[in-house]
Amino acid sequence: MPDRPPVDLGLVRAPQAASSPPGTRLPAVAVDGPVASGKGTLGRRLAKALGFAYLDTGSLYRGLGAIALEQGLDLRDGLALADLAARLQASDFQRSDLRQEAVGQAASQVAAMPDVRAALVAFQRRFAEAPPSGCTGVVLDGRDIGTVILPDAALKLFVTASEETRAQRRFLELQNKGDSATYAQVLSDLKARDARDRSRTTAPLRPAEDAILLDTSEMSAEQAFERAFDLASQTFGA
Ligand code: CDP
Repeated sequence: MPDRPPVDLGLVRAPQAASSPPGTRLPAVAVDGPVASGKGTLGRRLAKALGFAYLDTGSLYRGLGAIALEQGLDLRDGLALADLAARLQASDFQRSDLRQEAVGQAASQVAAMPDVRAALVAFQRRFAEAPPSGCTGVVLDGRDIGTVILPDAALKLFVTASEETRAQRRFLELQNKGDSATYAQVLSDLKARDARDRSRTTAPLRPAEDAILLDTSEMSAEQAFERAFDLASQTFGA
């Protein structure tokens, strides 16, 4: 996305110059999984280690959800939301409120709308085709990367963990930010969001048939990274 400001979306830049001409399919890693499965931490770290660009696709839906909440839009109005999605600016993905629970819930509501998803597909694919200069591949994390956005990705990981483990991780993350949500609230929000993400008709959360499952319930972030890096090394010969 050379015409967009470079600092958004949690991009990780690689030191080398890109060697592929525009339009060439670059090596890609798809990282999908349910709420708070650790895919963001894993994806970001993997991208850095491989010298790939990283896109947190959840930030697109969160940015849209945050604006919709702010403007008091009807979260079921697919057309209005798709129109907004098509006009999202890079700064919308950098808002400081993106990680709030309410924004996550709104993100999941707007993400269920087919028109909204359609409006965001091209952006994600363009990023994978032409990441910021210097990056030799891409890592995208989300819910439908391996199934819809990049079905040809050479490596697909589906990261998961038990509900309790994930709720505990998200609870600690929120606590560290001074958020007063209780563990019980976090667990119930997580269940509601997973259920919505899994049951929607368009691009539901599910592992691609060729995805490798990575259950991190009993793994530290370090162990999850090491496993993913091993798989990436086998796939890309890194
Ligand atoms: O970090 P966390 O697992 O809480 O969520 P996220 O990745 O930031 O995604 C927020 C919400 O956006 C999800 O609950 C999904 O509803 C939606 N999403 C999606 O539908 N498709 C994606 N590729 C990424 C996120």
